[in-house]
Amino acid sequence: MGWRPVGTTTDRFEESELSNPRIAVVGATGAVGAVFLSIIEERKFPFEEIKLLASSRSAGKRLKVGGQEIEVEETTLEAFRDVDIAFVSATTAVSQALIPAIVEAGAVVIDDSAVYRMDPQVPLVVPEINADDLKEHRGIVAIPNCSTTQMAMALYPLHRANPIKRLVADSYQSVSGAGGAAIAELQEQWRSILDGAPVRAEAFPHQIANNVLPEIGSPRPDGYTSEEWKMVEETRKIMHAPEIAISATCVRVPVSICHSEAVHVEFTEPMSVGEARELLEAFPGVTVVDDLSTHQYPMATLGAGRDEVFVGRIRKDASHVNGLAMWIVSDNLRKGAALNAIQIAEELVKQNLFLSGKPS
Ligand code: A2P
Repeated sequence: MGWRPVGTTTDRFEESELSNPRIAVVGATGAVGAVFLSIIEERKFPFEEIKLLASSRSAGKRLKVGGQEIEVEETTLEAFRDVDIAFVSATTAVSQALIPAIVEAGAVVIDDSAVYRMDPQVPLVVPEINADDLKEHRGIVAIPNCSTTQMAMALYPLHRANPIKRLVADSYQSVSGAGGAAIAELQEQWRSILDGAPVRAEAFPHQIANNVLPEIGSPRPDGYTSEEWKMVEETRKIMHAPEIAISATCVRVPVSICHSEAVHVEFTEPMSVGEARELLEAFPGVTVVDDLSTHQYPMATLGAGRDEVFVGRIRKDASHVNGLAMWIVSDNLRKGAALNAIQIAEELVKQNLFLSGKPS
């Protein structure tokens, strides 16, 4: 028998003395890792033990989690012995190289990379939308790309009421999506510009301070980028809606944290602005901020550090009778990554979906 998620009385998680999972965080020293550790503490995520893992460069560093100082270890396979849930938010190469072996060692992996997202055997989950998909996991659960998660959070409550036929999305993505070094580089570039010094650009193909780059990810033969195609495929997978036509343009902007998106949606039937507002306000994790007359709309400065996905500028799309346009903002490190991963772990615990044994 191969891997299976379990819910039987023989599970270790039903044994009272073992009720909390032992977790490992791969990439604990990174931009997502730091947010992850603070959210673990905020939400009082119950764990029996936590291992903080990173590259050999960080071995021996000490990080605070829940009031304790914990030493960062180098990521080795040995580290996953006796781990129940492994969060992986490091590099694509790390996910590719390690994840099968981590699953083999008995842990459920929640992966932040694109490596497994479109694998039909791997659930791609935003818990408010498709927590039930977790039941199908075989050891790996993927979290979506940050720009996809916030868009799906805003579109799903509308799609449920009035199926979406087509959408066009333009993203304005912060530099933290490219990691901690990119945040530092943006700050350094601003300083160089103010000092009249030469600007050093390493994190992106061009200077990002005082600039806007219409390129995120790698080029595809069809002229889109890999990031844009993630928004297409991942949105369809999460919402179980392969029929939605989607076109995206992903743009990097000189903002540290929070992605913003302008989204134009065509529904099957007309939808009023009032109905969309009501549906969005009723959906967990979404907050509507929408009063142009008093300059109230979602902004990066509003969303950074917050858990919600903010939606505003909701209006009829003047180009289509069944269309609505809106503006969506969310903290890409929180709901776009760490928070979504922790919500998945909470669901795994709630639904008791751990691995029962090793492949035979
Ligand atoms: P380290 O800090 O030791 O380099 P960010 O997204 O902010 O760039 O962070 C990337 C995260 O991935 C960091 O925690 C980084 O650790 C970690 N990482 C990078 N390469 C490896 C590796 N080969 N093995 C384990 N973790 C890695």
